[in-house]
Amino acid sequence: MDFQIQFLLLPLLFQVFLISSSTTTDILSQGSSLSVKRATTDVLVSRNGIFSAGFILVRENAFSFAVWFRIASDPTIIWMANRDQPVNGRDSKLSLTKTGNLVLLDAGRVALWSTGTSNMSAVKLQLEDTGNLVLRTSELGRSFTLWESFKSPMDILLHQQKLTMDANLVSSKSQTNYSSGYYILFWDDDNVLRLLFQGPDRQTSSVYWPSPWRRPFENGRSTYNNSKIL
Ligand SMILES: *[C@@H]1O[C@H](CO)[C@@H](O)[C@H](O)[C@H]1NC(C)=O
Ligand SMILES: *[C@@H]1O[C@H](CO)[C@@H](O)[C@H](O)[C@H]1NC(C)=O
Ligand SMILES: *[C@@H]1O[C@H](CO)[C@@H](O)[C@H](O)[C@H]1NC(C)=O
Repeated sequence: MDFQIQFLLLPLLFQVFLISSSTTTDILSQGSSLSVKRATTDVLVSRNGIFSAGFILVRENAFSFAVWFRIASDPTIIWMANRDQPVNGRDSKLSLTKTGNLVLLDAGRVALWSTGTSNMSAVKLQLEDTGNLVLRTSELGRSFTLWESFKSPMDILLHQQKLTMDANLVSSKSQTNYSSGYYILFWDDDNVLRLLFQGPDRQTSSVYWPSPWRRPFENGRSTYNNSKIL
């Protein structure tokens, strides 16, 4: 009896597995969107299964579009499109338009964030194995990067990600609040990497590392290399 049941169930389980695995994808194609209403299923998963991208609940009825590290008991947020302006839990979505712009729309169809890109040829968004969310186009067999999340980090740098002079790392408010906090890591004009505290009113701001009382070379830092890559 048991034997027969197992035989009946096996093909069924196999089908369920196939169906659920076929819904995970690492790509969002042109003219498609991810919806906040289907936040649990409208998720991109990198091919290696390590990273996900989708909407996460940040407080009651408020969501942010994020990339997170999946294989941890407590998912770690790597990047957010709208850390300071969450979207409504109804009808908000992330759309890759037919013209190649990646837009985050709030329920009232207000564009809260976008990559501002456009390209007439085929554009696709891919969550890569490195955790980088990349908007790419290919033309005449060559592929071009139009935008990538690695160029606008939040408070974390991943392996293979660089902090250049166009970007900062900004701490979060707290462990449960991902809004921009008060501590900023940035490249200064004199080619020195510094940490800045910027108070809530934005009027108090002071560099606290390396020691502002000493000149860079006294801190063991050089100002001669202007490549500015961390
Ligand atoms: C996070 O902090 C910001 C700024 O202080 C505040 O407006 C927001 O309500 C906080 N979010 C949560 C989830 O507490
Ligand atoms: C698409 O983007 C690539 C890379 O930026 C550019 O070389 C190409 O001219 C663009 N094509 C159109 C039609 O905008
Ligand atoms: C300048 O910094 C870059 C990146 O950190 C490094 O690759 C390069 O070797 C440095 N150049 C010199 C002359 O030290």
